[in-house]
Amino acid sequence: MNDCPRVSIKSIGHYDGQTVRLSGWLYNLRRSGKIAFPILRDGTGFLQCVAVKAELPESTFEALRELTQESSLTVTGKVRAESRAPGGYELDVQEVTIHQRIPEEDPYPITPKEHGIDFLMDRRHLWLRSKRQFAIARIRHEVIRAVRDFFDDNGFTLVDCPIFTPAACEGTSTLFEVDYFEDEKVYLTQSGQLYNEANAMALGKVYCFGPTFRAEKSKTRRHLTEFWMVEPEMAYATLEDVKELAEGLVCSIVARVLDRRREELKILERDTSKLETVKGPFPRMSYDEAVKILQGKGSTIEWGTDFGNTDETLLTEGYDRPVMVDRYPTEIKAFYFEPDADRPELALGVDLIAPEGYGEIIGGGQRIHDLNLLLKRLEEHKLPREAFEWYVDLRKFGAVPHGGFGMGIERTVSWMCGLDHLREAIAYPRMLYRTRP
Ligand code: 4AD
Ligand code: MG
Repeated sequence: MNDCPRVSIKSIGHYDGQTVRLSGWLYNLRRSGKIAFPILRDGTGFLQCVAVKAELPESTFEALRELTQESSLTVTGKVRAESRAPGGYELDVQEVTIHQRIPEEDPYPITPKEHGIDFLMDRRHLWLRSKRQFAIARIRHEVIRAVRDFFDDNGFTLVDCPIFTPAACEGTSTLFEVDYFEDEKVYLTQSGQLYNEANAMALGKVYCFGPTFRAEKSKTRRHLTEFWMVEPEMAYATLEDVKELAEGLVCSIVARVLDRRREELKILERDTSKLETVKGPFPRMSYDEAVKILQGKGSTIEWGTDFGNTDETLLTEGYDRPVMVDRYPTEIKAFYFEPDADRPELALGVDLIAPEGYGEIIGGGQRIHDLNLLLKRLEEHKLPREAFEWYVDLRKFGAVPHGGFGMGIERTVSWMCGLDHLREAIAYPRMLYRTRP
């Protein structure tokens, strides 16, 4: 039977009634004296197999019946449509080859029972095999594909930015310093934005997508020290253009995940009705208005301070889609924001706040393009002029209004999946107290 097709679980439906070969791992096993129901996983899905004692050689049946969780095996069998099975099919086992049987004395540590989060996080390299983590990984992949397609289809050129950088983009308090050669110090990038700005002046519309780093000392559900960010940047763009782009991106991600990852959302028991309503236009409000709304809802926030997690959750309450808040006080924003022409105490920045308590997933806005204003801001923020010389150049040679934003991949994935912590949205999370495995 070695000439029968080698198939994946994902494509099993094309082989109804045929004998196929399937390689994977034993996910779970129910059994009695006469019948065994091994559940196989192969990285593309999960499939229940049926092994009947009376129809198999004694040794084959016994080997399968006594097989341990996560042992690796190849099963040959006949595909049968079964309306009660989760994927609509089952496999009637005819032959089994066991590649590695995990011995009872040193079993696979993650059993179907409940485990504590630290136990699981310490075994993240194995935990990734669980159905839940499988579903999250596939949704993350879909989010990233949707992001790339969106920008590629809308005339953006991908230009990746460096990870070792000489200067801070998002304030000096969250920098990871690295010893470079000789006496040189560099930092792990907080954002590709500054380079994106240069790239936009060369290519018009660009994006970068890569890991970014923040030495966040806070231990929250929403912060990682290493996270992935996608950042578009556009020449000749205003705050309004940036808002429109952010809305378009988020709508297309949500639509794509709903369209292609139903199965995975089901595994996660995600309430998809909360995603179906995510369509443009998103509600828009100014920081001024947001503060008033929050105060009306009992928040102690005062004008001039940043929103906390609870404020963000309060703000989106009553909305079935993300909310965009713009024009924050310049004081609480990074050095590079263009001020509002009518009220220079406000920065032309926008945050997109996801519903259901997921908080800010996008931050961006319009950048300063005036040379003297930029020099003034660098000074006010005590940023070293020499490290920014190249950035200042962009204001000397054909400066134009421009803008863009950054979207955190893990925050977006967390929201899509309905996770209660960012740590599951990336394969190997890096947090204040976690750098392993
Ligand atoms: O709002 P942030 O800090 O903006 C920037 O870095 C800009 N330079 C981006 C730009 O305009 N090109 O970060 C952008 C997004 C946040 O909205 C959030 O989704 C995510 O990055 N983010 C984090 N995600 C996980 N852990 C952290 N510590 C994060 N900090 C920011
Ligand atoms: Mg932000």
